[in-house]
Amino acid sequence: MPIPQKQFYVCLVVTTVASFVVLRRYLQQKKKKLEKEQKKAYLKCKTLFEFEALAKQLMKPHRFYYYDYKAGQGHTFQASRDYYDKQLKILPRALMHVTDVSIKTTIFGSTYESPIMIAPSAFHRLAHNDGEVATARGATEADCIYTYNWLYSTMPEEEVLKTAGPKFLHVYLTTPSEFLEKILSEAEIKGYRAIVATCDHPTDRVRNTVVPIFDEASKTVDHDLTQCMCMPNMNLKDVVNKSTSGVSGSVTWAHIDSIKKLTQLPIICKGILSPIDAQLAIEHGANGIVVSNHGGRQIDTAPPAIECLEDIVNVVNGRVEVFVDTGIRSGTDVLKALALGARAVFIGRPVLFGLACGGSDGVKTVLNMLKQELTYDMACCGLTSIDQINKDILYKHT
Ligand SMILES: Cc1cc2nc3c(=O)[nH]c(=O)nc-3n(C[C@H](O)[C@H](O)[C@H](O)COP(=O)(O)O)c2cc1C
Repeated sequence: MPIPQKQFYVCLVVTTVASFVVLRRYLQQKKKKLEKEQKKAYLKCKTLFEFEALAKQLMKPHRFYYYDYKAGQGHTFQASRDYYDKQLKILPRALMHVTDVSIKTTIFGSTYESPIMIAPSAFHRLAHNDGEVATARGATEADCIYTYNWLYSTMPEEEVLKTAGPKFLHVYLTTPSEFLEKILSEAEIKGYRAIVATCDHPTDRVRNTVVPIFDEASKTVDHDLTQCMCMPNMNLKDVVNKSTSGVSGSVTWAHIDSIKKLTQLPIICKGILSPIDAQLAIEHGANGIVVSNHGGRQIDTAPPAIECLEDIVNVVNGRVEVFVDTGIRSGTDVLKALALGARAVFIGRPVLFGLACGGSDGVKTVLNMLKQELTYDMACCGLTSIDQINKDILYKHT
């Protein structure tokens, strides 16, 4: 008997709706499964380069671009990588007694668990919604010093300070003096162990190229960006506008003299490549220097920081502590930097990529990977403590 037309249509509608519901549920479950798998994917990363590749896959392209950004054609960054990979070779030692390798070290007279620290970098919420708080948690769990970028953080400082690990405070000297005075005079009470002042950022060229990209992206493909990347930042309303309006290009060594008066904490001048500047930093009261080209983000064809390190260590001659960053991607690179005289190293992008891939646990995993590689490499060189590391482990390095 033929089905009446009305019943047929009812049947068709019910079947279609049911199929739609089933399909939707299936797709939702598939999406959830994929998201779950993606969340754990970082656990399979064996190198920091694999973290970077995974972050590129997981992050929205314009967000990844901001982290990955290099000035010009990226020659400086590439030269830094080449210097670690091709110019510096390690000569291992055989049959040495290395049952107990320690990577504990001393920085400004205090003992820390490792010579691996997190460099100041901006806008961690591009990588993860918990932003700088997640980074600070990861650093705490990995027992590494975290440098909090006060100006370009969009997470409140008090939340970051709830995490227990040791911290340095990063400042821009372009920050209006009334604010700088307040944050520096309170830094010690808040528990920071040192101040890192950027010295290689005379004008806002990079920001001027990057901010419009964010503006455009937030209008079109990334509405979340407007929520998590509010400009100006949460710490200080209007500071971004103020700092670009009057003082861009006018920060000088006199600013180091001024900030010295505001705190008893050690001052670290970051972004030094020239031995002349290293000498000036000491004359103006710096207690530490970061030999850095800002991850190759400032001026293209600047030399690799690791190549400049030795000259600066020689000029400094033990008067202040010398650190280095840019292009460090393995524990082996850390060992090479320490062999050339760095007291400790700063890690930039790999931490952000770890954050993008796995939140605070991703940060912890990246840092622990570096620590484990350093420990293993020291054992291969017959070294059991950081103070035993010197140029002798570098093959034919004069
Ligand atoms: C996204 C991003 C933002 C950064 N922001 C700052 C900053 O505000 N001040 C600063 O002195 N350095 C900044 N840096 C540079 C880092 O402190 C560090 O010098 C550099 O990242 C080290 O190179 P690496 O990324 O190869 O490890 C930034 C780096 C990145 C990747």
